[in-house]
Amino acid sequence: MDFAQRYGPWALIAGASEGTGRAFARRLASRGLPSVLLARRREPLQALVAEIRAESGVECVAATVDLAAPDALAHIVAAVGGRQIGLFVSNAGADPHGARFLDLDAQAWLDLAQRSVMTTLHCCHHFAGPMRARGRGGVLLVNSGACYGGASFMAAYSATRAFTLAFGEGLWAELKPHGVDVLNLVLGRTDTPALRKLLAEKGLPVPEGIASPDDVAELGLERLPHGPVQNWGLADDAVGYAISSAAQRRERVLMIDKASRAVFGDS
Ligand SMILES: NC(=O)c1ccc[n+]([C@@H]2O[C@H](COP(=O)([O-])OP(=O)(O)OC[C@H]3O[C@@H](n4cnc5c(N)ncnc54)[C@H](OP(=O)(O)O)[C@@H]3O)[C@@H](O)[C@H]2O)c1
Repeated sequence: MDFAQRYGPWALIAGASEGTGRAFARRLASRGLPSVLLARRREPLQALVAEIRAESGVECVAATVDLAAPDALAHIVAAVGGRQIGLFVSNAGADPHGARFLDLDAQAWLDLAQRSVMTTLHCCHHFAGPMRARGRGGVLLVNSGACYGGASFMAAYSATRAFTLAFGEGLWAELKPHGVDVLNLVLGRTDTPALRKLLAEKGLPVPEGIASPDDVAELGLERLPHGPVQNWGLADDAVGYAISSAAQRRERVLMIDKASRAVFGDS
């Protein structure tokens, strides 16, 4: 199966209007895959749809959805309509605050958790079920090195990212036998408008040599069949902030998966 057969006929990208989400949409179109693009702002989404159509002739559609809304899934399902989703890219997940936990109202962190945890969980449940039934598909969870542990200014953020890591590893183990690929694409600092905005608000410069959205999107699509984890800038067997490498995590997931299957009666 080529890429479009394996992950088509449609992709769904949550957080697609700029940065890595935008790069995923363009890279997917260049592989012949149309996407349903989600974000809050209509104008950049519509501009991206027009750009993709002109560039590749691939049809895309866009819908404005707030992924932090408790009823986000209903809006996403309505936007998708009758299209069959073969690849779900969960992209939106950054912390727009960069603040200490107690320095903001709890609602700011609840919104972050709703978007990055609850809506991701809802979408994976809704869209991966039919993928499993078809015996093909993909779930690409854009993640952050913050998934590997907590730190000042990142307490709630790193907790949401740790959820994504463990959730994606478990999903990988459950869905791989059914032909569905799951990948946590763990990024370091990446030159997105969201990062630039946060740095500007803090009066900080954009660091030199950080990753480009196009490069991380390309790596994610290349490594999608090789989950459950790909760390940006690191070989599969290299250890970064994670203490264990992606390869060691894969072995660990498989080992625990075996024990878990024995407990739950599925050998
Ligand atoms: N940039 C980095 O340095 C960096 C580092 C490590 C990991 N990452 C990871 O990379 C991913 C992308 O990060 P990013 O820097 O591009 O920022 P981001 O805020 O996670 O993603 C930006 C995209 O998501 C959309 N979005 C944000 N909040 C939304 C909401 N509530 N509802 C709907 N759409 C929403 C934005 O469009 P609208 O504003 O129009 O809604 C935009 O298209 C995240 O998962 C992040 O954890 C990034």
